[in-house]
Amino acid sequence: MTQSSFAIEARRLQKTYAASGKSPEKQALKGLDLAIPKGSIFGLLGPNGAGKSTFINILAGLVIKTAGEVRIWDIDIDKDHRAAKAAIGIVPQEISFDAFFTPFETLELQAGFYGVPPKERRSMELLDAVGLADKRDTYSRQLSGGMKRRLLIAKALVHTPPVVILDEPTAGVDVELRRSLWEYITMLNKERGVTVVLTTHYLEEAQELCDNIAIIDQGRLIACEP
Ligand SMILES: Nc1ncnc2c1ncn2[C@@H]1O[C@H](COP(=O)(O)OP(=O)(O)OP(=O)(O)O)[C@@H](O)[C@H]1O
Ligand SMILES: [Mg+2]
Repeated sequence: MTQSSFAIEARRLQKTYAASGKSPEKQALKGLDLAIPKGSIFGLLGPNGAGKSTFINILAGLVIKTAGEVRIWDIDIDKDHRAAKAAIGIVPQEISFDAFFTPFETLELQAGFYGVPPKERRSMELLDAVGLADKRDTYSRQLSGGMKRRLLIAKALVHTPPVVILDEPTAGVDVELRRSLWEYITMLNKERGVTVVLTTHYLEEAQELCDNIAIIDQGRLIACEP
C-alpha cells in the first residue's frame, strides 16, 4: 500500500439522516471532498448544522456514511474500520463517559480497551497536561463541565494516535485553560508530529492554532486554505 501525504481523505462523502417522526430526511453531507495533510493542525469551521460533527462522527464510526469514501492514515474505513479507528483519537462534541470512575481510572480503562500495556501508559502525564492532576481520584461526575471536556481530551490521547480530532475542544473551557490546552495541542503537533483536526466557533482559536482551515457550509466544502 502506498503512503499518501494525507492523514484523512474524504471523497464525495454523503450522509443522509433518515426521516423520523415529524422531521424529514436530512442531507447533512452532500458530497464532501476534503484532504487533511499529515502533520497539520487543521481547522474545520462552519455555521451550526453545517455537517462538521457528522463528518467527525463518521470518522469515529459513530455515524454510518450514506456514500463516498473515507481513508484514515491511508486505511479505507470500509476495508478495515478497526485499524482506521486505532489511528485516531476523537474528542466528541457531546460529553459522555462513565461518571462512576475517577479521571485516573477512566484513562487506565481506555488504555486497556486499546491494548496499551501498563508500562506504556501515560495517565498521569495526560492528566497533568489537561490540568486535572489534582482531580485524579475524584469521581468524574463531580467534575465541572470544562473539566469533563478536558478529561475527554486526555481520554482521546491514551493510545498515542497519529491523528487527534477535537470537536469543539474548548467550548465551555475557561480562558486560562484554553491557553494551556492550545499549548498542549501545539506541543503534540510540533514535538510529537501528531496531526490535529479541530472544529471551533472561535475565530481566534483557529487563527492562533491552525495552519490550514476548511469552511463547510450546508454539507459542502466552500473553502480550504492555508
Ligand atoms: N442523528 C441525527 N439525525 C437527524 N439529523 C441529524 C442528526 N445529527 C445531525 N443531524 C442534522 O444534520 C445537520 C448537520 O449537523 P451536524 O451536527 O453535523 O452540524 P455541525 O456542523 O456539527 O453543527 P454545530 O456547529 O452546531 O456543532 C443538521 O441539520 C442536523 O440537524
Ligand atoms: Mg457539531
